[in-house]
Amino acid sequence: MNATRPQLTDPFRIAHLEIPNRVLLAPLAGIGNWFVRLQAKRHGAGLAVSEMVSSFGLHHRNERTLRELMRIDPDEHPVSVQLFGHDAEVMRSGAAIAAEAGADLIDINMGCPVRKVRRTGAGAELLRDQDLALALARGAAEGSGLPVTVKLRSGIEAGDRSGFDLAVRLAEEAGVAAIGFHPRAATTGHKGKPDYLLTRELVERVDVPVIVSGGLKSAPAARRAYAESGAAAVMIARGSLGNPWVFEELTGRRTEPPSSAEVAAELLWVIDRAEEHLGEERASRYLRKFYPWYVESLGVSAELADELQRSADLPRARRLIGDLAAPVPSL
Ligand SMILES: Cc1cc2nc3c(=O)[nH]c(=O)nc-3n(C[C@H](O)[C@H](O)[C@H](O)COP(=O)(O)O)c2cc1C
Repeated sequence: MNATRPQLTDPFRIAHLEIPNRVLLAPLAGIGNWFVRLQAKRHGAGLAVSEMVSSFGLHHRNERTLRELMRIDPDEHPVSVQLFGHDAEVMRSGAAIAAEAGADLIDINMGCPVRKVRRTGAGAELLRDQDLALALARGAAEGSGLPVTVKLRSGIEAGDRSGFDLAVRLAEEAGVAAIGFHPRAATTGHKGKPDYLLTRELVERVDVPVIVSGGLKSAPAARRAYAESGAAAVMIARGSLGNPWVFEELTGRRTEPPSSAEVAAELLWVIDRAEEHLGEERASRYLRKFYPWYVESLGVSAELADELQRSADLPRARRLIGDLAAPVPSL
């Protein structure tokens, strides 16, 4: 490795914006709301990217989109809001609304492989319509007055480099301020080893920071990808689910895994925020996807995990977790 290579703890810039370190929370649809981002920041992430938000939802000032998806906590800055869409005018207006809501950066999703999104011409489908992709990036920049970044895949099919080519054009022709690169083809989903050498090729080809995503399941995996790819920063996605401590590990604040009391306390924090955000009834359903991630690191029995999963009300979930957090009696 190059001796002058920055550490993950060193700051870097996206356009004028200083990001305090090189460990980022990736966008996660249905998950990356304000409190998940705040949690990542609390544990050391330099920047958190929102779950993808419809540019149309913003443009039409959809009430729930504004109230829930555009909620930004004052302590989460800098924060990036990720938008998806397929119309440059709508992207311009959606990005302006995201800027008003307090975004520091706009990210555009050009990597989503989900059929429902691609069918509209958004997400990874933009790899097939590069002129539209450039127009979206320009529209977002003009509408928001903020630096615009793009997150994309390496291609649609295995071996196809259309994502690489588009990333180069976005940097050179549309003034994009950074590229989030997930070097797997859209059709391979989340399977297989990401191509970190292709990421290195992109790093050498463009003048803006490249942020690598994909396969960063643990701190050692993230460090390896950072070294192999030569990227400016890493973006943690599934590796952060129920494990915000990965940000502490990568920023040098922790070497030991969290105790079960710490995990339980963290989960109680999440439950409180979810209830505040969604109200008790919606939060109790929403949290069902969060429990398994935490329960895994608590190492509890399958029966207990199942009970938590089925618990319909939050007070009961809190009691069960409180019990899990009880210190193990010494012999
Ligand atoms: C549940 C889930 C939701 C995701 N949502 C988004 C999204 O909204 N926008 C996006 O650009 N990528 C999204 N991704 C992709 C991740 O940001 C990341 O690129 C991908 O998971 C690869 O990283 P990993 O192998 O470390 O998980 C999502 C991934 C998962 C698993």
